[in-house]
Amino acid sequence: MGKDVIIACDFSSAEATFKFLDKFTGKKPFVKIGMELFYAEGPSIVKEIKKRGHKIFLDLKLHDIPNTVKKAMNVLSNLDVDICNLHASGTKRMMEGALEGLTRPDGTRPLLIAVTQLTSTDQESMENDLLIKEPIDKVVMHYAKCAKEAGLDGIVCSPLEAGKVHETCGNDFLTVTPGVRFADGDIGDQKRVMTPAEAKKIGSDYIVVGRPITAADDPVVAYERCINEFID
Ligand code: C5P
Repeated sequence: MGKDVIIACDFSSAEATFKFLDKFTGKKPFVKIGMELFYAEGPSIVKEIKKRGHKIFLDLKLHDIPNTVKKAMNVLSNLDVDICNLHASGTKRMMEGALEGLTRPDGTRPLLIAVTQLTSTDQESMENDLLIKEPIDKVVMHYAKCAKEAGLDGIVCSPLEAGKVHETCGNDFLTVTPGVRFADGDIGDQKRVMTPAEAKKIGSDYIVVGRPITAADDPVVAYERCINEFID
């Protein structure tokens, strides 16, 4: 898969999601479905969006014992999504189990990427709450390497880390980066942001964009602006 813009469909109902997607006449953007929408609507929302012809990143961030994650991934692989994810902190064994569960009898599977440290975790909370004393950048790169060694396809990271991840894990290792804002747009609650053009320059493979598109006066125009800055 090449570079693309993934729209974070952070809506709480199928109705709101379809009202939003219906604006894109003739276009089928890559969409991200997170916990809120999935827990509200269940697997049917994934099947419906897939039936409409969209690619889907199912952002459920699994984290449990390897056997449980393997079985859960097996169920998710039947939903025919394009990207799934999990927490790298669940260990290499858990990531290997996930890959096994995700792989269909014919050898195909969705891409699998790992969350390293959430961007809501800072050095202080990592040291105090998780008792991890290393610098956070080092922890993120270590988790990225573990994900690569487990056979995963990439990680979710800040666009600011994408270059370093590629240096460490190779250019084929995918970087999927949220925290994207237009130069003249609202930052909202994101702290470390980049424009789509900057994310392109630094080598992000996929940008995940929510509110700059979903809350725009004209979401289709905002989406096209992202595509133009990031891909064209
Ligand atoms: O609206 P906004 O563009 O900030 O949305 C970004 C999306 O990416 C949200 O769905 C958010 O949960 C997700 N995300 C993030 N930072 C991470 C991981 C996921 O913003 N580190």
